[in-house]
Amino acid sequence: MLGNFSYSNPTRLYFGDDAIAFLGEELKNYGKKVMLTYGGGSIKKNGIYDEVLKALKDEGKEVFEDPGVMSNPTVQKLYEGCRIAKENDVDLILAVGGGSTIDYAKAVSVSAWCEEDPWDKYYLRMEDVDNRIIPVGSILTMVGTGSEMNGGAVITNHEQKKKIGHVFGDNVMPKFSILNPKYTYTVPKYQMVAGIYDIFNHICEQYFSGDDDNTSDYLAEALMKSVIHASRIAVKNPEDYEARSNLMWSATWALNTLIAKGKSTDWEVHMIGQAIGAYTDATHGMTLSAVSLPYYRHIMPYGLHKFVRFAKEVWDIRTEDMGERDAAEAGLAAMESWMKEIGVVLSAKELGVTEDMIDGIADATFLFDGGYKALTRDEVVEIVKESL
Ligand code: NZQ
Ligand code: ZN
Repeated sequence: MLGNFSYSNPTRLYFGDDAIAFLGEELKNYGKKVMLTYGGGSIKKNGIYDEVLKALKDEGKEVFEDPGVMSNPTVQKLYEGCRIAKENDVDLILAVGGGSTIDYAKAVSVSAWCEEDPWDKYYLRMEDVDNRIIPVGSILTMVGTGSEMNGGAVITNHEQKKKIGHVFGDNVMPKFSILNPKYTYTVPKYQMVAGIYDIFNHICEQYFSGDDDNTSDYLAEALMKSVIHASRIAVKNPEDYEARSNLMWSATWALNTLIAKGKSTDWEVHMIGQAIGAYTDATHGMTLSAVSLPYYRHIMPYGLHKFVRFAKEVWDIRTEDMGERDAAEAGLAAMESWMKEIGVVLSAKELGVTEDMIDGIADATFLFDGGYKALTRDEVVEIVKESL
């Protein structure tokens, strides 16, 4: 049964290979001072920077540059961004990049005018925003996180060995996002497949929970099928527009709250993956792929019916003549061979995880109870060991 919920999504999207043409119109809605936030320089190499700067200049904007947002943005970088935003009293933060840049822009938007330490307030104490919020717009260049249409903002504190996501509300979500699939053509293959697995796992995290016959789960199955299909094409030909555009659109819908509506959700793969990220600074999607198979095999007996459905509906396995357990295992085996086919990391060792980190990773893992099995700390230790 579909539970009760409210739903709204305030982000306006512009999708397609001419989407940047709408930037000028959007910019008219904000004041003169724009903070231009981006990553380590990919946008300068592929020309996106020039296109964006031209649109800003054409609209007469005063631009304050904020480059150097690293993958898995750090709390130190957040403090630096807050300084730039506050000192210049910017009217808009325009984030050009992947999830890291967009997440960071949202974190700056709520933190610049925050009187307290934003890490303590939003990440350790998980408090709501009660100060001025600077609007954010995004231009997406790397697909995976869904940050372009959600309120998530994940920040890493290396000193405290913590990587934590705060999901902010509608008022922090990007006001607009520009989605041009061609912008993703230059993403390195490692990042592209990490992003693809990130999309897939976002869907799994919302699918493998509850036993309800609800629209959200049917939507999740359709999205998974689209991701599997498009990924097989994109790994062979990264410039296949149809595949890259379907991946982009699926990523947005995988994590813009829609498929979580009316049901419980899990998120434990992400919790373990984030703890691994805090210790290794590894690529987000790969931290998920490395722990997924041990995790799902571990929880499978507790949600057998859903794993059978996954085998049948997502992987087209003929399960009628199989026992439930065999059918469920066949689904996970199909997922494993797809993961090998696209080339994601299947061992946490490859990400730099060593035996002596396991206890710390288990301590840094938040334990939720939305999935089929509420994990204990010992079970996290077991799963991380198996992932090595
Ligand atoms: O920094 P630059 O030079 O731009 O290079 C980036 C970076 O090295 C590169 N890249 C991006 N677009 C490119 C490109 N290179 C060439 N051409 C392009 N068009 O790709 C690398 C990875 O970028 P990044 O933004 O770090 O990746 P991703 O989009 O996977 O974001 C990861 C962050 O998002 C968080 C993760 O934890 C991680 O911190 N997440 C955010 C979520 C949310 N907002 O809801 C949910 C996710 O589960 C995730 O936790
Ligand atoms: Zn993710």
